[in-house]
Amino acid sequence: MKRTLGTCYYPEHWPRDVWEEDARRMVEAGLTWVRIGEFAWSRIEPEPERFDWGWLDDAISVLGEAGLKVVLGTPTATPPRWMIDRHPDMLAVDRDGRPRKFGSRRHYCFSHEGYRAECARIVKLLAERYGANPAIAAWQTDNEYGCHDTTISYSDAARRGFRGWLEARYGTVAALNEAWGNVFWSMDYQRFDQIDLPNLTVTEANPAHSMDFRRFASDQVVSFNRLQTEIIRRHSDAPVAHNYMGRVTDFDHFKVGDDLEIASWDSYPLGFLEDRGGADSAHQRAYMRQGDPDFQAFHHDLYRAVGRGRWWVMEQQPGPVNWAPYNPNPLPGMVRLWTWEAFAHGAEAVCYFRWRQAPFAQEQMHAGLLRPDSADAPAIEEARAVAKELSEAEDIAPAGAPVALIFDYEAEWAWEIQPHGAGLSYFDLVLAHYRALRRAGLSVDIVPPAAEIPASARMVLAPGLMHMDAALKERLARSGARVLIGPRSGARTLNMATPVPLPPDLPEMDVLVSRVESLRPDMPMPLAGGGCVTGYREEIETAAVSLLELEDGTPVAVRQGRTIYMGGWGDAKALDRLVSLMAAEAGVPVTPMPEGVRLRETATERFWFNYGANSAECPAGELPPAGVLREIKAT
Ligand code: GAL
Repeated sequence: MKRTLGTCYYPEHWPRDVWEEDARRMVEAGLTWVRIGEFAWSRIEPEPERFDWGWLDDAISVLGEAGLKVVLGTPTATPPRWMIDRHPDMLAVDRDGRPRKFGSRRHYCFSHEGYRAECARIVKLLAERYGANPAIAAWQTDNEYGCHDTTISYSDAARRGFRGWLEARYGTVAALNEAWGNVFWSMDYQRFDQIDLPNLTVTEANPAHSMDFRRFASDQVVSFNRLQTEIIRRHSDAPVAHNYMGRVTDFDHFKVGDDLEIASWDSYPLGFLEDRGGADSAHQRAYMRQGDPDFQAFHHDLYRAVGRGRWWVMEQQPGPVNWAPYNPNPLPGMVRLWTWEAFAHGAEAVCYFRWRQAPFAQEQMHAGLLRPDSADAPAIEEARAVAKELSEAEDIAPAGAPVALIFDYEAEWAWEIQPHGAGLSYFDLVLAHYRALRRAGLSVDIVPPAAEIPASARMVLAPGLMHMDAALKERLARSGARVLIGPRSGARTLNMATPVPLPPDLPEMDVLVSRVESLRPDMPMPLAGGGCVTGYREEIETAAVSLLELEDGTPVAVRQGRTIYMGGWGDAKALDRLVSLMAAEAGVPVTPMPEGVRLRETATERFWFNYGANSAECPAGELPPAGVLREIKAT
């Protein structure tokens, strides 16, 4: 396969007379793709039912004639102002019951039937008009579902939808009362139309109620997206993608992904380091111009799973962004490194956001490949370098990884609903395990909870999976791999109740969590031999072999057969110890990484990346800061 580059372009932002020159310069820079249209609704339909297609026809033909392939976005993330006049109640409503306002973007509630009908209407018009246009080589639905905290809405439309969703799930209100445990605090209902959304309750709502609401909210995103894909497919054979975000977990991306040919995501390494990587300030200082060494790779692996192998970076940070607390310039070379890292993880394409920096409105401080005056910005040189390297190098040969890490969106919601200790997050727990694997130089495949364990996996990690059905426990037990389970794995039923027999209730393992506690973050419990348990700890009853113990000999991690149960949140050192124990037993060779260096293996190569601020020695040679090395594996 030919790996390709692209950019995000807004012809409606620029005078008509620069389009040809822009397109020519994109091609000259080695770009293949240009994504357009995703925010253009007010210029396609300036007034209800009055259309101006001329400029878009023209833009697509200019770009197509220049030899570019167009990704056409549906404009549904930015309903125009007149839409609010038509549907005043279409705005999403926040937890405090306040409607969110017009004046930026994503100001819609996924449950609003009237807005859904408007989306179906505009998508149909776009698909009919451009579905057979040879320049349109892919589609993008909407833009970043869930970004700006927009999945969950407490609107009247959501309330209506939720009641119907509950009725379909439970059939009778008696079954719902039983499933939720509504006898507690006299919360029994007599009719579905009495059930409200779980906000503005006096104290915490029933966790079963909250969990079903989260499932409902996620399903609304799935059906909203499906509405669009079904229409597009009636008129076009081009693949359909969506651009997901970093660390947005409010909907089940695997389920949305089932309706798309390609998963893509928007990678902003420096922005994420500052605003969502969960890093402390020393780490932020060390990586301020490079980004976190694991955050991008984690999402590459996650979205490869969401796309069932087919995935892109739809937006790649090209310079400083505008939206994080601090927005430094990247170290020279990082744009190239980020791009190559995506390819090493299997990306088909990487597109830079955006072509030219906008001299107006919200994102003036966001770099592009060009400056606002159209001169080259620094990133375009790095994009050209990658384009040249791509044209000269062998293609990347994907390979199954020796390690599988299970990621479950429902587990994230369960931890959010019942964290047990302030700040405890499933996402952080999984990322902590991923980091430990990467510090050991291991390549990882992320696996959805309902999927088969990949045949290549000799180690499987399943931390924090609050609900594990019997089938998943069985799949893990018969995978033949070394398996790490816990903490909190299997701790809740589907309805957020404590199962009896007590968790984790694993076939082939004699271990029971008898009591749990959360810990102040400044009161970790040291382990004998190094590392500690921090934030959350379980007391376990077991006959299994102890692998990690507190200093007084209390077991923390235990092993029976091929399975390890970990009864607590291990810090980095504890997880490093666990990973190296598991890898040794699984016969998976580890390569401890120098600070800031990361490794990704394909079938034929080892890719080395240096996120550190200093040169590093790695087995493939000297790696300067922002350096990338491709090492052919011995056969
Ligand atoms: C993304 C978004 C783009 C742009 C970009 C700025 O989240 O999809 O439209 O806003 O961020 O970094």
